Amino acid sequence: MNSLLVTGGAGFIGANFVRWLVDNTTCTVTVLDKLTYAGNKASLDGLPPERVKLVVGDICDRPLVDSLVGDCDAVVHFAAESHNDNSLTNPAPFVTTNLVGTFTLLEAVRAQGKRYHHISTDEVYGDLELDDPERFCELTPYNPSSPYSATKAGSDLLVRAWVRSFGVQATLSNCSNNYGPYQHIEKFIPRQITNVLTGRRPKLYGTGANVRDWIHVDDHNAAVWLILNQGRIGETYLIGADGEKNNREVVEEILRQLGQAPDAYDLVVDRPGHDLRYAIDSTKLRQELGWLPQYPCFSDGLTAPIAWYQANETWWREAKDATEATYALQGQ
Ligand code: NAD
Ligand code: DAU
Repeated sequence: MNSLLVTGGAGFIGANFVRWLVDNTTCTVTVLDKLTYAGNKASLDGLPPERVKLVVGDICDRPLVDSLVGDCDAVVHFAAESHNDNSLTNPAPFVTTNLVGTFTLLEAVRAQGKRYHHISTDEVYGDLELDDPERFCELTPYNPSSPYSATKAGSDLLVRAWVRSFGVQATLSNCSNNYGPYQHIEKFIPRQITNVLTGRRPKLYGTGANVRDWIHVDDHNAAVWLILNQGRIGETYLIGADGEKNNREVVEEILRQLGQAPDAYDLVVDRPGHDLRYAIDSTKLRQELGWLPQYPCFSDGLTAPIAWYQANETWWREAKDATEATYALQGQ
C-alpha cells in the first residue's frame, strides 16, 4: 500500500491518521476534505509536502472522486458529519455526506477495482444498560438511535452490500469514542478542557451517568492500518481499548489534571434520545490481527491531549465563543 486517499483527513481522527502514517509508514497521502466547520487545514501543518497533499473538495463530487481514486492504491474513508448534537438540530448534511458520500466512493472504487476501508462507529449498535454484562461485538444487531448513528449504520450496510453484490475489496471498522489532539471543541472532552481554560465550568448532560468507552486516537489509527493491510475482505472489526468511564468521572479527571475542584461543573439539559452506554468487545481484532492498545490507561493517555489544548489555543480559540453560543441556545 504505497499511496492512500484519506477522506476527511483535515478532521480529528483523519488528521491524526495522516500524522501516524507519516511517522510509521512510507506511504504518500492525498487528503480529500471539504473543510466544513469541522475540518481545519492547520491540523495538517508541518507535514512534508512530498508525502501529504490536501485536495479541498466534496466526497459527493463523483468526477473529482474518480480522478483521485484513480491515483491511489487504497481509500480510507473518514469523512463524515460526526456530531450527534448537530444531527438533532439539522440532519440534512448527515444524510448527504454520510450516505450519498459513501455511495459515491463505493461506486468509484467499484469501477476502478481499488481497496477500500470504511471507518465507522460503535453507535450503530444502539446503547446498553449500565449493568448489562454484554458488550458490543461484530454480531450485535444494528439498532442506531440518532440521525448521525442511523446514517453511519446505513453507510456500513452500503459497504456490506457492495462487497457481496459487486465484489468490492472492502473492510469495515467500528470504533468507540476517541480522544486526542486536534478534536473539535464541540465534542465532550475538548469542550470541557477549553471551558476550564477560558474560565467556564464544564457542562454535563443530564446526571452525567452516561458511559462511553474511551480510546486514544493513535490506538484507533494503528488498528485501522493493521486492518487495511491484514484484515479479511468483507469483514468488520470492532476497535476498543476497555476504557469505559461515565461522563462525571471524565470531567472529574479533567478538573483534577487542571488543578480545579472535583465538583466545579454544571449539570445541564440532557441530549434528546441520549444513548446510555457504549462498550466494545475487541477480541476479534486482538486475536486475529494481534492488535493491543498502547494507551491502556485513560487518565495517563489524557495528559498529553490536555497539554496540547493548553499549548495550541490559536487552533481552537476562534471556534470557542460561537460553539458555546450555539450550546447556550439549547440550554447546554
Ligand atoms: P470530524 O468531524 O472531526 O471530521 C470530519 C472531517 O470530514 C472534517 O475534516 C470535514 O471537513 C470532513 N468532511 C465532512 N463532510 C465532507 C464532505 N462532504 N466531503 C469531504 N469532506 C467532508 O470527525 P471525526 O471525529 O474525526 O470522525 C471521523 C470518522 O470517524 C467519522 O466517519 C466518524 O463517524 C468516525 N468515528 C468517530 C469517532 C469519534 O470518537 N470521533 C469514533 C468512531 C468513529
Ligand atoms: O462512540 C463513537 C462516537 O463518539 C462517534 O461515532 C461520534 O462521531 C463521536 O462524536 C462520539 O459520539 P458521542 O455522542 O458519544 O460524543 P460526544 O463527545 O458528543 O459526547 C460524549 C458524551 O458526553 C455523551 O454521553 C454526551 C456527553 N456530553 C457531551 C457534551 C458535548 C456532555 O455531558 N456534555 C457536553 O458538553
